Amino acid sequence: MSTNKTIEKILKLKKEKNAIILAHFYQIPEIQDIADFIGDSLNLAEKAKNAESDLILFCGVHFMGETAKILNPKKKVIIPDMDAGCSLADSCTEEDFKKFKEQNPDHIVISYINCSAKIKTLSDIICTSGNALQIVNSLPKEQKIIFAPDRNLGGYLNRITGRNMLLWDGTCEVHELLTAEYVLKQKLQNPDYLLIAHPECNDAVLQIADFVGSTSAMINFVKNHSQTKFLVATESGIVHQLKKDNPNKDFIVVTQDESCSCNDCRFMKLNTLDKVLTSLEQEKYEIILDDDLIEKAKTPIIKMLDLSKKLGIIK
Ligand code: 13P
Ligand code: SF4
Repeated sequence: MSTNKTIEKILKLKKEKNAIILAHFYQIPEIQDIADFIGDSLNLAEKAKNAESDLILFCGVHFMGETAKILNPKKKVIIPDMDAGCSLADSCTEEDFKKFKEQNPDHIVISYINCSAKIKTLSDIICTSGNALQIVNSLPKEQKIIFAPDRNLGGYLNRITGRNMLLWDGTCEVHELLTAEYVLKQKLQNPDYLLIAHPECNDAVLQIADFVGSTSAMINFVKNHSQTKFLVATESGIVHQLKKDNPNKDFIVVTQDESCSCNDCRFMKLNTLDKVLTSLEQEKYEIILDDDLIEKAKTPIIKMLDLSKKLGIIK
């Protein structure tokens, strides 16, 4: 089937089934273009919570679909591919994390949203890259904190806040592969480009970045900056929105080495237009969570959303 035909069918079905399509900035351009809403993890969570449609089709990865279900449990939440996981979420199993908590009973837990629903139930508050700094700063300086599962984001927060949070040893396999050495090489080859980086990059990369922020923060930074050339240290999908917003600006995605020309997340890129269509047709793959899990996982996410609203990070 041609791409146009597939898109036509998706849009027709979406209307018939009263569905909303939510997509992350790392999705392929074709999916971003048919989505009702594109955003970072924080804005997508808020959108999912308030969705009034009967069906939520979440084009991102599994933990994002889970978060949507937790926040809006009466709706049917589906994702195009059940194998769309996340290396960060996978790094933190319930069993190991319980032990880690038991070894540090006087710590409270901040978990990055890139974790499973079960880890969320073991957390006091959730954060995303869009509000992590404010969430950490909302706690007293002397409060002992476990930060999980991203040691890069946690390390970055420790550095800029002067805290000493205990870090779970997980990473995003996409950002972790970017080395400061090779990023610096690309920076030196493009001296008139500003380097923007996602905080899931390792600290050596973040230290040479001109701007560090979530996907939405990077997009806003570029939109509002007079500079026209940017080196982008995050997943390639973000360039679609950057180019849409700034047709006259130039973007180079920073890569791990000479052998690849892009920086793709193998999980995010499992989703295709064909799978989106099948997903809508067959209403699969449904995110199913038991009520008790939903109730327990909801508390720390709602805490995050309420605080983000109070601080004006989201409307
Ligand atoms: P944000 O879009 O919230 O910055 O998250 C990036 C990410 O890694 C999602 O998997
Ligand atoms: Fe997980 Fe990294 Fe892929 Fe995001 S980009 S889904 S953090 S593996």
